Amino acid sequence: MNSEKDFIAKSLTATIENGSSEWSAPSNIALVKYWGKKQHQIPANPSISFTLRDCKTITKLNFAKRENDGNFSFDLLFEGKPKEDFKPKIQKFLERIEAYCPYLKEYHFTIDTENTFPHSSGIASSASGMAALSMNIMSLEKALNPSMSEDYFYRKASFLARLGSGSACRSVKGSVVVWGNHAGIEGSSDLFGVEFTSEIHRNFSNYQDTILLVDKGEKQVSSTVGHDLMHNHPFAEQRFGQAHQNLSAIKSILGNGDLEAFIKIVESEALTLHAMMMTSMPYFILMKPNTLEIINAIWKFRNDTKIPVCFTLDAGANVHVLYPENVRESVLQFIKGELLGYCQNGQYICDRIGTGAINI
Ligand code: DP6
Repeated sequence: MNSEKDFIAKSLTATIENGSSEWSAPSNIALVKYWGKKQHQIPANPSISFTLRDCKTITKLNFAKRENDGNFSFDLLFEGKPKEDFKPKIQKFLERIEAYCPYLKEYHFTIDTENTFPHSSGIASSASGMAALSMNIMSLEKALNPSMSEDYFYRKASFLARLGSGSACRSVKGSVVVWGNHAGIEGSSDLFGVEFTSEIHRNFSNYQDTILLVDKGEKQVSSTVGHDLMHNHPFAEQRFGQAHQNLSAIKSILGNGDLEAFIKIVESEALTLHAMMMTSMPYFILMKPNTLEIINAIWKFRNDTKIPVCFTLDAGANVHVLYPENVRESVLQFIKGELLGYCQNGQYICDRIGTGAINI
């Protein structure tokens, strides 16, 4: 399964009139960041992420056979109510995956979706949302092709999710997921995410991610626009090379449990991502003053206590605080005492490493 052609549905031997499926898929947090892409959702550099456990999208898909009139036919419900503004995104997704799922126009779909985290929290739901929908589409395809292997099922689910939103391909299967060709990771691919299968040191088991909601406003720059800014970016080539090096380094670190080295790479990746946005044309500052307050407080706490806690950021102002399970109590006390004042309405979400999508 190394070319796009391998993902064109075949052996659709069964006939299915109607049915339904339900999947949850989690969000994920990148350690080495995906920032910059080529045509057809091919990443400019490889990335690696921790899969989250509790921040997820739950999507139910109902399907009923219909006359193929050349259009996609679907209703979209969000928390049980019709949601017109989400439809264009789904329409675009279906168009992108049609070549691989030619059966889609033969069905009417009802997509009923909800998130476990508040929609307006500023947490991107595109990764979990596109992953959950892709799992459901694969359940339909599996019903049409009962001989499909489990390996193909998950791989194609990740392949489809990538076409919806790049980072979504890392929300399908596994606790640590690599997406993008990388010489040091066997089987890695630009087309789908793969589970990081090397041994992972116990320092990282049940790793914690507390998400501090600094700014819940609409994103200033969509990730699509952001990725685009890496074309003709003066530092793009160096950045893509650096991501390869950081991925090699983090691969060893995940094996040897060196938390100090882990922190250096993870924080540097977060700041580099923001540095890329600050040095593009047009340029953006996506951190808020409170993002910086939090970063400085984490650095001071780490310096004073030697507790290995660090931060990472996505393309926004919210801060993900990452730390091992065995320091959970002291870090939570620190977060509650010193960081919540910097959060919008004191809001935060406690999450941790999870395992991927779940069939409900
Ligand atoms: C900063 O996956 O949201 O979170 O492919 O355009 O949908 P699209 O972009 P998206 O980009 C996420 C970028 C990031 C870093 C990361 O998750 O690797």
